[in-house]
Amino acid sequence: MLQEKIKQFTAEIKSFVPASAADVENFKLKFLVTKGVVKALFEEFKTVSVEEKRTLGKVLNEFKQLAESTYNSAQAQFAQVGKKLEREEGDLTLPGEGFQLGSRHPLSLVRKEIVEIFKKLGFIVAEGPEIEDDWHNFSALNFPPEHPARDMQDTFFVEKKTGNDIALRTHTSSVQVRMMEMGKPPFRAIMPGRVYRNEAISARAHCFFHQIEGLYVDENVSFADLKQTLFHFVQELYGEGTKVRFRPSYFPFTEPSAEMDISCTICKGDGCQLCKQSGWVEILGCGMVDPNVLENCGIDSKKYTGFAFGMGIERVTNLKYEIRDLRLFSENDVRFLSQFETELV
Ligand code: DAH
Repeated sequence: MLQEKIKQFTAEIKSFVPASAADVENFKLKFLVTKGVVKALFEEFKTVSVEEKRTLGKVLNEFKQLAESTYNSAQAQFAQVGKKLEREEGDLTLPGEGFQLGSRHPLSLVRKEIVEIFKKLGFIVAEGPEIEDDWHNFSALNFPPEHPARDMQDTFFVEKKTGNDIALRTHTSSVQVRMMEMGKPPFRAIMPGRVYRNEAISARAHCFFHQIEGLYVDENVSFADLKQTLFHFVQELYGEGTKVRFRPSYFPFTEPSAEMDISCTICKGDGCQLCKQSGWVEILGCGMVDPNVLENCGIDSKKYTGFAFGMGIERVTNLKYEIRDLRLFSENDVRFLSQFETELV
């Protein structure tokens, strides 16, 4: 009996691998304290026969030594780790400091909100590269060769290549082209991303900003679909009752083209500084995809029609949060950033 127990505990001690100082302490509590295993076995030893005493005495003493030496070396190991940590990390017994949670960037919040609205309408999210070639950024989108937007004034060129310059994209409309080239209609997608323009930085202009492009191409897509989609979007984003109006405009890649205004979110149409007393603020450009663009992307413009729109996320965010200086978005001043809701998910 006693012999059996010694054998079992010996095996246990030999396989003991402490992972923490707490394990070492538990080892001590189990084996070495007054009510521990070692003491108990010595008590039991008193009750066995004289012959057994002769054989087991030595075994028991060896067992005791094993328990003690295992404990001592484990303790030494963790004492050293503790000291090393103390040196490197300061006093580990002090209560933790707790860290401050960040908040989402306002542009991310608004982008997410816009994306969610269109997702519910069945739009998928697509992305394209920020470094683009002339074809995707301009030519395929029906920009005439001498169009002022290709000018050095507006575009950051990366590499001049005859016939197909490489540049930082000036708008997310380039993603439309990539999408249409790659697949077959129907297309229903929104394409958020960063764009670049060679502009002096001020409260009202920046050399980079963010846009969301929308594209819907299928059979029988009409301007009425465009209006209804954007009207729904505005009701969702700015609240029921927000008015919209479409003004004729021009973009090379849409025909007809329009700009969409919404009733001023600040004065609700009465006239204020933000809307320059007009009661309306412009939020996006849109139109029916020009047949030339469809053909450039290998889509039969006799069979398919589509609408597209593009909006600046900064502009939408400014209206929502009444932010008046674009530079705030990229300065990373926590006094600005911490004013936006914190999302834990
Ligand atoms: N790409 C235009 C810009 O950067 C915005 C735009 C206007 C996009 C009309 C469109 C559109 O898709 O139909 O100013």
